Amino acid sequence: ITKLDKYRPALHFSPQQNWMNDPNGLVFFKGEYHLFFQHNPNDSVWGPMHWGHAVSKNMIEWEQLDIALSPDEHGTIFSGSVVVDWHNTSGFFQEEPGLVAIFTHHLEGENHPQTKQMQSLAYSYDKGRTWLKYENNPVLTHPTKIDFRDPKVFWHEASHKWIMVLATGQTISIYSSPNLKDWTFESEFGEKIGSHDGVWECPDLFELPVEHSSEKKWVLLVSIGDNPEFDSGSRTQYFIGSFDGHTFVEEHDDIKWLDFGKDNYAGVSFSDIPKEDGRRIYLGWMSNWRYANHVPTKGWRSQMTLPRELSLIEIDGEIQIVQKAVRELEPFFTKKEELNHVIVNSKDKHHFNIHADYAEVELVLENIDATQYGLTIHHTNTQYTTITVDAKDNKLLLERKHSGNVDFSDNFPKPQMVKLNGTEQLQLRLIVDSSSLELFLNGGEHVVTSLVYPDKACEGVSLFTSEGEIKVVHGKLSIPAKN
Ligand code: FRU
Repeated sequence: ITKLDKYRPALHFSPQQNWMNDPNGLVFFKGEYHLFFQHNPNDSVWGPMHWGHAVSKNMIEWEQLDIALSPDEHGTIFSGSVVVDWHNTSGFFQEEPGLVAIFTHHLEGENHPQTKQMQSLAYSYDKGRTWLKYENNPVLTHPTKIDFRDPKVFWHEASHKWIMVLATGQTISIYSSPNLKDWTFESEFGEKIGSHDGVWECPDLFELPVEHSSEKKWVLLVSIGDNPEFDSGSRTQYFIGSFDGHTFVEEHDDIKWLDFGKDNYAGVSFSDIPKEDGRRIYLGWMSNWRYANHVPTKGWRSQMTLPRELSLIEIDGEIQIVQKAVRELEPFFTKKEELNHVIVNSKDKHHFNIHADYAEVELVLENIDATQYGLTIHHTNTQYTTITVDAKDNKLLLERKHSGNVDFSDNFPKPQMVKLNGTEQLQLRLIVDSSSLELFLNGGEHVVTSLVYPDKACEGVSLFTSEGEIKVVHGKLSIPAKN
């Protein structure tokens, strides 16, 4: 079978048609995961924003539904979140608990020379299939701030109120409410801390346990918009600290990046994952504002990252995020090849034969005496991506300049780089889909998420070294499972 569209991902959500950006309103309710998304249903470039909608039982196979929210007299529909109002704090739900969307209304154009952003509500009685806009919208405005958007709301058990984190220029503002309708300003974070390379967008705030300890910490995710001065384009930083219901206080001075690839932006986590499950599950928009409007897909644009479970670990006294693809992915793979204790040098390059639309390669590598080692992902005979570990400089480079179609942007072919803590032992998990690579290093301590536009997903992956040898302590290739 030849695929009609060589770039269409198998494991990642992409819209059936037209434009998509940020994931919105991620929520689990009555057995379904909901993914709303920034959507222009009339064109495959960014335009008047709506909320598209898809549902899934496993976060991998999605069913796209009708548009959830469309522009109205208050403006177009920018990013936001959805919560389950379990105790009817809003008064919208007399019969049984339902969903409330808290989103940004964005108003600009001829009649409104001054852009205006404000927060509004909509609610649903039928598991998100149809939505009613609240008659007293908007519920939160600001007299002077122009950037005032992307509300992420959660129920804060300790203070018994709703908390909203909101992107307000190059800071995050925190508001609280008893009922989702009346909001009180609590505090503003970030004026003198973190990266200010661009406008701050799409915050998320949640608490996570620190693995192998009894500690818990609060994590604040902040996406940073594109700034032409920097090659990185749009990307995501995060802060670790404490939150008391009023103020977030960070506990470090360094800048922490969520992903070292170019293509993970505006990601947030799911609300209302059941307590018995207990996971914090995140997904991001797999693109970059630098070239998102120009990527070479036809009739549709953009895809989401794989859903990832987030946790916190301490490495050398520093607490950081670790990301793992959710376990729901496992049934989509079957093992094709396994190897143990195999030496790779300049003569013996181990090659995995793949020929599939998606694949997974897991490796535990030990560097014996190589100066550089890594893998080449052969998409076709002539199109390839390389992942090179540099033992001297302790870094890893992902190079996609020969990966296929790259000329839609000057920036796209430039390498992506991760500084590693060491290269003697390296664990890699690579997931290749039709037009993306997700590389999880050392159990997800570092992640590199990267789009590619080859003619075929993957014919094979080979291991290489330059001078010296490495040992494949363990290797495993998995290909699509037959369902
Ligand atoms: C982030 C973002 C948000 C905004 C939305 C508009 O990618 O710029 O700040 O709400 O996209 O589509």
